[in-house]
Amino acid sequence: MVSLDLDFIRAQFPVFANPESSRWAHLENAGGSYVPSQVISILEDFYTTSKVQPYWDFGPSAKAGKAMDRALELLPATFNARMDEIHFGPSTSQNTYVLAQALQSSWDPGDQIIVTNQDHEANIGAWRRLEMAGMKVIEWSVDPKTGLLDIDEVKKLINKRTRLLAVTHASNLAATINPIRELADLVHAVGGIIVTDGVSFAPHAPIDVSELGCDVYLYSTYKTFGPHVGLMYTSPEVLNRATNQGHFFNADKVSYRLTPAGPDHASIAACAGIIDYYDDVFRHHFGTTDSVKLRERITRVFKLFGEHEQKLMEPLVNYIGSHSDFRLIGSSSKDHSVRAPTIAFHSYSRSSREIYSALISASVSCGHGNFYAPRLVDAVGLDPEDGVVRLSLVHYNSVEEVARALSVLDELAS
Ligand SMILES: Cc1ncc(COP(=O)(O)O)c(C=O)c1O
Repeated sequence: MVSLDLDFIRAQFPVFANPESSRWAHLENAGGSYVPSQVISILEDFYTTSKVQPYWDFGPSAKAGKAMDRALELLPATFNARMDEIHFGPSTSQNTYVLAQALQSSWDPGDQIIVTNQDHEANIGAWRRLEMAGMKVIEWSVDPKTGLLDIDEVKKLINKRTRLLAVTHASNLAATINPIRELADLVHAVGGIIVTDGVSFAPHAPIDVSELGCDVYLYSTYKTFGPHVGLMYTSPEVLNRATNQGHFFNADKVSYRLTPAGPDHASIAACAGIIDYYDDVFRHHFGTTDSVKLRERITRVFKLFGEHEQKLMEPLVNYIGSHSDFRLIGSSSKDHSVRAPTIAFHSYSRSSREIYSALISASVSCGHGNFYAPRLVDAVGLDPEDGVVRLSLVHYNSVEEVARALSVLDELAS
């Protein structure tokens, strides 16, 4: 059986060859991941040779346009979607903001929007603000003991006036994978749509919007080994319904309708480097990419990533989940298909700040606080300032890095 060659993986990321950066065990990946040389080289080439207005016929401009087109063609496969269904915006927060503006006129005052208090604010705030336009906003609240959402609770909230359910695929703290397909079916049954925030899910497993049945799906490439771009899938129905948010003369251009600002050309081009990275991983582990479709390559690469992540998260979930001084937020399952390897926790005897400082002293990159999910931190009974400590892993992390974090926790707990 093929397993992830971690030496090969880490050799793709120049950060691990840098003496200063490489002394850190980077366990703050849910905030932002490292970038492989495949992405950096596109960015460098773009800035060196073609940092001009793209799509004219002069050399550097045509080259810039070509580099951007390559990304526009390749990235939809990460959603299992078509090119005309994906929008490249500056961030997920901005994409939800623009989408909310674009959809609000299709609803009537008194229509209902359901948001959770488990989501990152990026997938709450824009929808909550529609209250000012007369929408009724209803909260689907987590269980305060676990931080988990119970689908039976949302069944009580959904009714024939429900127009939208905004819910995370996996919270950036509770990390537990929500049953998006089931939720989509419930919302569709009353004629509503589902907007899914996949930012915390996307670095860990392949996304399939048709399998999930979502109408809108968002993620940010700076968490998936790429530059700072927000990607948004919209179904053809949603796109038809969305009013143009771009310049009036661009109204008919699908890719302009929901991205009012001029995009960061170089970053868009560099998104193709994410796929180049996946393909290099594929070739190293499975041989030639010839005759294997891109979608299949992505799926197989993520299977390797997932198996490695599973090994990384097991000892952390075991330790934190079973120690009486620690409380893990979200599911205590170690199963990668149940939770992402993002471990948010707190101690009953020490502040999160104190635990964070001890980890930093041992060169473990991490953070503490609410991570822009203050409603969740508050709901599970914590001070949103001190919040939780978060250790978030991705496939390039090593067992040794996790062991370093564990030994700090063990020392604190003893
Ligand atoms: C789950 C989740 N959703 C949304 C966001 C916001 O993404 P962006 O910074 O692209 O707006 C984040 C960022 O940390 C996140 O973790």
